Amino acid sequence: MKLSESDFEGAALALVDGEPNLIANLANLSAHIFQSIPGLNWAGFYLWDERDQQLVLGPFQGKPACVRISPNKGVCGKAFSERQTQRVFDVHEVPYHIACDSASRSELVVPLFKGENCIGVLDLDAPTVGFFDEELQQRVESLVRALREKL
Ligand code: SME
Repeated sequence: MKLSESDFEGAALALVDGEPNLIANLANLSAHIFQSIPGLNWAGFYLWDERDQQLVLGPFQGKPACVRISPNKGVCGKAFSERQTQRVFDVHEVPYHIACDSASRSELVVPLFKGENCIGVLDLDAPTVGFFDEELQQRVESLVRALREKL
């Protein structure tokens, strides 16, 4: 199990409890996720910019990354446009993948909701092919679901 047995979800919810500032909450969540899942090289958020009709880089941990992603472009744009988690076993096998850190070899992108609105995505990258298994996907999706009414 890659995720430590500690209370991953409960600790995340405690971090945002009572704090209304979205950027502060996402900053702490990216740090929490990055620290809790050893083996990631990038963990962060892209947020939907209504005016520009693009995803824009939000709080993250890892190397600097591309700032803007159009809907349907990249793994992030696909997850956002389809409102569906994207789990990529090997990014080299996915032609639409946008390479930010050349070390990244697998990726998990989960749409992020605030109430009824999809406000962006949570993007996790790992330098290992096939890093994200079904169990890890479910743990991350469960956290994102729990955050829906808390952000
Ligand atoms: N790989 C992503 C781009 C973002 S970086 O991985 C941080 C994509 O294909 O959308």
